Amino acid sequence: MCGIVGAIAERNITPILLEGLKRLEYRGYDSAGVAVIDAAGQLARCRRSGKIAELEQALRAAPLAGRLGIAHTRWATHGAPLERNAHPHCSAGEVAVVHNGIIENYLQLRERLQGLGYRFESDTDTEVIVHLLHHKLQETGDLTTALKAIIPELHGAYGLAVIGAGQPDRLLAARSGSPLVIGLGHGENFLASDQIALRQVTDRFVYLEEGDIAEIRRDGVQIWDAQGRPVQRETLQYRDGAEAADKGEFRHFMLKEIHEQPTVVRRTLENRLAASHVLVEAFGPQAAELFGRVKNVQIVACGTSFHAGMVARYWLEGLAGIPCQVEVASEFRYRKVVVQPDSLFVTISQSGETADTLAALRSARELGYLASLAICNVGTSSLVRESDLCLLTQAGPEIGVASTKAFTTQLVALLLLTLALGQARSSLGAGVEAELVEELRRLPARLDEALAMDDTIQRIAEFFADKNNCLFLGRGAQYPVAMEGALKLKEISYIHAEAYPAGELKHGPLALVDASMPVVTVAPNNELLEKLKSNLQEVRARGGELIVFADGEAGIHNGEGTRLVRMPHIHHQLAPILYTVPLQLLSYHVAVLKGTDVDQPRNLAKSVTVE
Ligand code: G6P
Repeated sequence: MCGIVGAIAERNITPILLEGLKRLEYRGYDSAGVAVIDAAGQLARCRRSGKIAELEQALRAAPLAGRLGIAHTRWATHGAPLERNAHPHCSAGEVAVVHNGIIENYLQLRERLQGLGYRFESDTDTEVIVHLLHHKLQETGDLTTALKAIIPELHGAYGLAVIGAGQPDRLLAARSGSPLVIGLGHGENFLASDQIALRQVTDRFVYLEEGDIAEIRRDGVQIWDAQGRPVQRETLQYRDGAEAADKGEFRHFMLKEIHEQPTVVRRTLENRLAASHVLVEAFGPQAAELFGRVKNVQIVACGTSFHAGMVARYWLEGLAGIPCQVEVASEFRYRKVVVQPDSLFVTISQSGETADTLAALRSARELGYLASLAICNVGTSSLVRESDLCLLTQAGPEIGVASTKAFTTQLVALLLLTLALGQARSSLGAGVEAELVEELRRLPARLDEALAMDDTIQRIAEFFADKNNCLFLGRGAQYPVAMEGALKLKEISYIHAEAYPAGELKHGPLALVDASMPVVTVAPNNELLEKLKSNLQEVRARGGELIVFADGEAGIHNGEGTRLVRMPHIHHQLAPILYTVPLQLLSYHVAVLKGTDVDQPRNLAKSVTVE
């Protein structure tokens, strides 16, 4: 949520900052700004509400140049998305700050600073940081010392980047609850909230840890830990993935990411399967011993990742006989939880930085779980670092705000987890593991077949162009798939969409059904198919229009009021993964027809690092 970029070099860094912001725009995009120390040693700033293109245009009209600067793309928390609330925030023309996160005690600090004569220009919590810093700078004369001095006064979560007019040789950073990474160059160094922002200038990165403060100069970096001790942090080198910030031949990142699914599912399976079983060691060296002791699983996640957890419950209980509970992180973290003995605590997250999921993991640590396991797409994330075990999905960077390839790779990882737990506890039925391992190997080819149905789905999308409401139905493990389908449609096309377990239809939602309310149904050929077909009859009898995704053998046909999309045949346990794909395509095409901003839907952000 929000994006930070900073640079210190011997060349003009404004183009680097702008390029970095564009790469981070998926994180927040309601306003943006840049501040540099210019040739005269003055702090110069440009901010605009709206997308980064607005800022870029303003900078074309009135260029800013400098060899030290910071920039920010915002997702509003405190204060509307107006220019005066956009970052960087400045104090007395001497200090500039960009900030990700929330300062919880900002009202007390604001009052105190107003008492000291500071005038506030914005409604943000961030502005207290910059005035506080300026105040301390007057006392100490050194920006690094001033930053260290104010940190204990800031309560909440933050990633900060700071520059000062009188100190053109340093870019400062502080991390507490919001990620920051330093990019290392030759005679120049960089800072960002996500390494993806800096891939155009470097492939060497140093991740700051919780409580770290860094002083970044052109020729070196000095880091202090939370206790103020100088520390060295490991340098990581990335050799791949730089292509992710490019849409390639695709019109949108979302479409590109939908089409990447066969490849990234294959990658997620790599090195994790033996001939006929899952390699339990893929979850970490202690996994084999730990998994044998697991008697319960508690899954916690948000958004799309929560839906993945809901599918996993059907697998964990149905295949491995392990009791499983699934809960959204924002609820879990604030209620009194009774922990079953020998419970494994599983978090699922694309980013590994979602504030509620991280907080749930931290509270779980106090609650006596056997161990924590993160299913995550970012190996360097806080969630992975703070968990006992992890399994990384190999989706690669996901840029579209609506999650697609992260979800399907999470499902693959969760099926691997189910098989690994079942194997370690000897609770899988005979031959189940070998059969599903074989089916998982065939999955990328099935996903290719599902993607080949794109034209059919595009035609069906036209039917939605004038609709305002939509119902999604599924039974069993397809119910969370229906929830995910509804979430995708509402996120990017702004059509109101709800998902129901099909059996609940006549307990309420049937009252809404008429010709203007399409009913989308995921109907693979499983033991619930006949029951689902009766539910579809109930819809047709009320004049409802059906869009049905079903197996050729399901006995459902195209006809009046029923648009059938014939799906490739698949093992019923893997159907949730395959049936997700056409629902993603459907939402995508509806959004394109509606003319919405597919990759950056209004009011949303990719990585929700605030509560
Ligand atoms: C935001 C994103 C969703 C995502 C959710 C959880 O709402 O827009 O796509 O599912 O956060 O994010 P995580 O990174 O924890 O999976």
